[in-house]
Amino acid sequence: MKAALLLLAGVCAAATAADVGTGSRVYATYCVGCHGATGESLMPATPNFRRGEGLMKPDAMLLGALRHGGRAMPAFAGILRDQEILDVIAYLRTLQR
Ligand code: HEC
Repeated sequence: MKAALLLLAGVCAAATAADVGTGSRVYATYCVGCHGATGESLMPATPNFRRGEGLMKPDAMLLGALRHGGRAMPAFAGILRDQEILDVIAYLRTLQR
């Protein structure tokens, strides 16, 4: 029981470690040009974050997607640290309405 609680505490600490403030700065620098200030992109075939598009995945999967990029989206491995990517993912989740 104690071990389970410690494990849970560890998971919660990891989940809150992402910094939305840093995420919003990363977004403004690297993402806003394509994804728009509100997460509602004007580019075709780009997920609308306000509607939660592209966000229905665990953080670990989105981390992989951003490291490797997509068809039109650049890869961010080597540009952003994993922690910065996790911060920006936490920020994306705040755009959802
Ligand atoms: C050059 C334009 C461009 C930039 C810059 C860009 N994106 Fe994207 N993004 C896209 C497009 C287009 C897609 C749809 C998938 C594809 O075809 O690449 C996408 C998809 C996504 C998805 C959904 C991925 C999935 O697996 O469904 C997320 C999350 C995302 N972008 C976040 C970001 C973040 C965070 C940044 C900044 C660090 C960023 N994007 C920068 C164009 C861009």
